[in-house]
Amino acid sequence: MSSSRPPTPDPDKGARTLSPVRLQDIRRRFPILQRRIYLNSCSLGPLSLEAQERLDSFLQLWHEMGASAWYEHWLGRLDELRGAVERFLGAEDGEVALSPSTSVALSSVAESVDWSVRPRVVTTELDFPTLPYQFAVKPQVDLVVLPSRDGVGIDPEQFAEAVDERTAFLATSHVFFTTGFRQDIGRLADIARGAGALSLIDGYQGAGQVEVDVRTSGVDIYTTGPLKWLCGGPGLAYLYVRRELARRLEPRITSWFATRNPFDFDPAGFAFRDDARRFEMGTPALPTVHTALGGQAIIDRVGMATIEARNRLLTRRLEEGLQGEGFPLRMAEDPAHRTAILMVQHPHPAETVAALAEEDIIVDHRPGHVRISPHFFNTEAEIDVVVEALARLPR
Ligand SMILES: Cc1ncc(COP(=O)(O)O)c(C=O)c1O
Repeated sequence: MSSSRPPTPDPDKGARTLSPVRLQDIRRRFPILQRRIYLNSCSLGPLSLEAQERLDSFLQLWHEMGASAWYEHWLGRLDELRGAVERFLGAEDGEVALSPSTSVALSSVAESVDWSVRPRVVTTELDFPTLPYQFAVKPQVDLVVLPSRDGVGIDPEQFAEAVDERTAFLATSHVFFTTGFRQDIGRLADIARGAGALSLIDGYQGAGQVEVDVRTSGVDIYTTGPLKWLCGGPGLAYLYVRRELARRLEPRITSWFATRNPFDFDPAGFAFRDDARRFEMGTPALPTVHTALGGQAIIDRVGMATIEARNRLLTRRLEEGLQGEGFPLRMAEDPAHRTAILMVQHPHPAETVAALAEEDIIVDHRPGHVRISPHFFNTEAEIDVVVEALARLPR
């Protein structure tokens, strides 16, 4: 694979080590960690007390105020979340929209280009299926699905060869959900820009486990959401659209949240907002807005440099432990491409995951693999327990 490594973060740049006291303090904020060894953040991040407290306050206001809570409180919470996500992603004010799911966010973007001019979309066989599906259902789209040569990652040269002057989107993941392979999104943005195409990055498995700075990377569009690494629960996605681009794109699906003056309630008066919120698709899930703010508060407090450094440490320990027990791992050869999603080849993944759950160890499986995804709040002792259990169980 030709070398394009994601910019390797200086291991200690901005990373504060979590002292045992601080780590225990964070762990106490996630009740499930007192009951289980939780190693499945790439599926669903755990619920924190911060998230629960905000959800409780939302329910309380609903009891007390009913609809008037909208104006005095809840519209403000939507702005608070958009702002928090903008700061977190390195975006500017007005560059993040709230969306019900990644699929909806992708739909509104896919419905904003002229397919007759540029009918091609380049994606890969390692992407989460909702990304290629979005384009596969459009008869006018020439969908290119790049094969992975090693089953783990994609060589950026493959994108460079496939993205041409007829390409609308280079559309792929920041981190592949099945292999944990992290792509160099700055390089992908350059490839797209060089051909006049747009870079569209599905960052659901990226933001929250690896640092993201959308402006520095130069990507045009980045989607992510609170469900997994941001510990914020299901029901929302975030859509970053570069400011200059957002002004140009006019989605052919829309909602009253996309218009300049929604509270005029004027059926004849639709006018696109001049920021990313022109992609919003109706009333966001308010319970999730609250849980997402809670999760985000913890992530921001710990900081991405620390989270990424901790995840590297935990994943390395996991890799070494499992390799020591003779388990084959499906992962990138170059550590710069590895993240905290580890695929362990296994003859009985479903049975093994069930047996581990009996021992209060929560992991996941995919065909032929047990999938383990630690996050910053896990401990080295927990990593050792899962390695020991996997070594003991039948294989
Ligand atoms: C990379 C990736 N993208 C998207 C999704 C989900 O998409 P949606 O929000 O449309 O359910 C997932 C997992 O749930 C994912 O792992």
